[in-house]
Amino acid sequence: MKSSLLWSIPLVLVLFQIHTAHAQPSHRMLADACAGCHGPRGQSASPMPIIAGLPEAYLEQTMRDYKTGKRPSTIMGRVARGYDDAEIDALAAFFASEVWISPPQELDPKQVKAGKRIHRDGCSSCHKDNGRFQNDTTPRLAGQWKDYLQIVLEEYWLWERRMPHLFMSIAVSEFDEEDLEALASFYASQR
Ligand code: HEC
Ligand code: HEC
Repeated sequence: MKSSLLWSIPLVLVLFQIHTAHAQPSHRMLADACAGCHGPRGQSASPMPIIAGLPEAYLEQTMRDYKTGKRPSTIMGRVARGYDDAEIDALAAFFASEVWISPPQELDPKQVKAGKRIHRDGCSSCHKDNGRFQNDTTPRLAGQWKDYLQIVLEEYWLWERRMPHLFMSIAVSEFDEEDLEALASFYASQR
């Protein structure tokens, strides 16, 4: 699969970092284990998702769901299994306290426009304020990397990522690949 290939490259290196971080855990050292993929403050480089400034409860739940396998993943399941509850809470608190930065991205204006239309009709009831809204269960989408959004939408669409929110798969089921790219482009264009 495209996503597995894309994401497997830095894994070995980073698993080593996780191992060494465990020698003497602290917020900073724990978070260093995530830096190889998510950047030192969670302001990741594409296609890894930006996690800086996401709600603490969302980060905690997401890590726990990766750990138990409730939320399928290519990499994060293996990563999350390396942490106990207290460490997951510390990681969530650390990244939640960092600032989300929307990176500049090269996008096709036609796709952005098409995505905006679909968003308004089908997604804006939950992903309010053009995807800037976030709460304990809903992550911010505005300014997220387009490639990550597109991969995730395809996973929902293929029903690979059906838990914990079955309705995300239902929400995207009526669209085709072009629509999904348009949606990803629209959210990526937001700040
Ligand atoms: C080897 C690369 C890698 C490492 C190391 C890594 N991540 Fe991830 N992370 C990913 C990828 C790729 C995804 C997308 C899900 C998947 O396929 O695994 C992701 C997804 C996430 C998400 C979900 C984001 C969202 O928008 O829902 C969170 C939260 C997260 N990672 C936190 C962490 C934390 C905390 C650490 C450090 C303990 C960490 N990650 C280490 C690659 C990595
Ligand atoms: C009923 C509310 C609701 C609707 C409608 C909805 N979403 Fe979501 N969306 C959510 C929630 C809640 C999550 C978090 C799911 C999870 O934790 O796996 C989510 C997750 C996502 C994610 C993953 C973000 C990440 O960081 O991993 C994307 C992308 C997304 N939605 C896009 C859309 C699009 C596009 C539409 C319209 C076609 C849509 N959503 C409709 C509630 C909704």
